[in-house]
Amino acid sequence: PKVAVIIVAAGSGSRMGSAEMPKQYLNLAGKPVLTRTIEAFVQSDAVRKVLPVINDKHETMFADLGLNDAKLLPAIFGGADRQTSVFNGLNALKDEAPDIVLIHDAARPFVSDELIGKCIQTAATFGGALPALQVTDTLKKANKDGSVEQTLDRMAHYLAQTPQAFKYELILKAHQSAATADTSFTDDASIAEWAGLNVKIVDGEPNNFKITIPQDLDRAEMSLATPME
Ligand code: CTP
Ligand code: MG
Repeated sequence: PKVAVIIVAAGSGSRMGSAEMPKQYLNLAGKPVLTRTIEAFVQSDAVRKVLPVINDKHETMFADLGLNDAKLLPAIFGGADRQTSVFNGLNALKDEAPDIVLIHDAARPFVSDELIGKCIQTAATFGGALPALQVTDTLKKANKDGSVEQTLDRMAHYLAQTPQAFKYELILKAHQSAATADTSFTDDASIAEWAGLNVKIVDGEPNNFKITIPQDLDRAEMSLATPME
């Protein structure tokens, strides 16, 4: 299939608390996070095009990354929330008309080539693919006061990652409807779910964590220092 990737990088990284240098531009063992994330997809043989969605305030920082590759499309601007940033990306791919689109957080630089391949294959077969980790701890539901109400079946609960992969036409339509709804969504699998699409879970990877808070940067540095096998 013809595969395009949207990398959403338009966030401000407020939970990281590095105001003047948002997390996706931070240096991680000699290379900016966003450079690592983009390279992971550009280097995948299964991927044809990579589209960065950036914040208009970060235009200079993005240019300074000096990225240059035949697969890399010119960056476009995102919006006030992640959903808008993805929607802008989907609309910008209309001429490209990919069969499959992967939507990935810039803040997850450790995505593997194997996971990219699995997501593409699964989306091609089922329409949608969500990499996710099955919950391993016992899972509790609590009320607002922090008192336990219920123990949930952990085997039935998953933590969602990206890249989330979809047939392009299906997720474009789902996003078009979602843009006019008054619900807001934090990932694309929830938009697909809301639109009634089939989203199949594929095994995520523990190392494919999202850099969100300062401790995640330490974990990221460690993960690069430790040879993986
Ligand atoms: N993102 C985006 N456009 C937005 C908000 C988020 O493209 N308006 C992107 C982020 O750049 C990130 C991904 O979506 O790569 C996941 O979002 P998150 O981890 O929440 O990043 P931020 O929104 O930047 O961080 P925070 O929520 O702490 O402010
Ligand atoms: Mg956010």
